[in-house]
Amino acid sequence: MSKHLAYHLEELRIALADGDERRVLPRVLDGESTVLDVGCGIGQSLIALGTDGRRCIGIDIDEAAIRHGVQTFGDRLRLEVAGAERIPLEAGSVDLVMCRVSLPYTNVPRALAEMRRVLRPGGRIWLTLHERRTAQGYLREAWRARSPLRIAHVLYILANGWLLELTGRVLPYPNGRYESWQSPQAVSRRLVRLGFEVEVRTEGRHTVVEGRLPRVAHGQGRPGA
Ligand SMILES: C[S@@+](CC[C@H](N)C(=O)[O-])C[C@H]1O[C@@H](n2cnc3c(N)ncnc32)[C@H](O)[C@@H]1O
Repeated sequence: MSKHLAYHLEELRIALADGDERRVLPRVLDGESTVLDVGCGIGQSLIALGTDGRRCIGIDIDEAAIRHGVQTFGDRLRLEVAGAERIPLEAGSVDLVMCRVSLPYTNVPRALAEMRRVLRPGGRIWLTLHERRTAQGYLREAWRARSPLRIAHVLYILANGWLLELTGRVLPYPNGRYESWQSPQAVSRRLVRLGFEVEVRTEGRHTVVEGRLPRVAHGQGRPGA
C-alpha cells in the first residue's frame, strides 16, 4: 500500500472516531445539499460528514486515491481527478466547499478564486491552514535528517509563504507542484476581497478559516481579487 493511501485510510479512521481530538471537520448546515471537498483524498471527510440526502463531490489530483475512493464509496460520492485551480463544476452550484489540509499544496489565490466561483450566493467555505510554525517544524526535521533536498524544499515552502503574505501570490517548485504556509490574515484578506465574511478560529491543532457569501449575488468579488 502506498504511504498516501495509508495516510487517507488513517484519516478516515480519525474522521469516523467521534472522540478523537484530531477529528476536525465542518458542520454541514440545514439546507446545504451540495458539498464539495477540494483535495479529498479517498473521500474520507465526506464519508465522515454523512452523505444521506446530500450531493457529495470530491476532487483530488492523486489518481490512485480517487480510484480507491471510487471503488470503495462510488455509490455515495462523486469523485474526480482534478486540481483545485480548475474545479470541474458550474459556477454557483455548491452550498459548502471544504478544503481540509489541502490548501497548502495548491496555487492558493487561484484555488480560492475557483472555490468562490462554484459557490452559490449564501454559500460557505471552510479551510484549514498550515501556519508558519508548521513549515518551521519541517525545517527542523529536514535539518536533523541532514537531507539537502528536503532542506531545499522546506526553504522553498518558507519563502513561498512569505511571498503569499507580502504579494498574495505563490510560485511553483521546479516539479510544478505548489506548497506554502498561510497566515490566517493573508487568507482572510483574500477571502474578503472575494466577497466573503470571514471568521478564524483554532480547533484542536488546526487553524480553521470559515467564510460566508452574502445571500444576494454581488458578482465574483472585487475586480483583481
Ligand atoms: C494532506 S492530504 C489531505 C486529504 C484530506 N483532505 C484530509 O483531510 O484527510 C492533501 C491532499 O491534497 C491533494 N492535493 C494536492 N495538491 C492539490 C491540488 N492542486 N488540487 C487538488 N488536490 C490537491 C493531495 O493529493 C492530497 O490528497
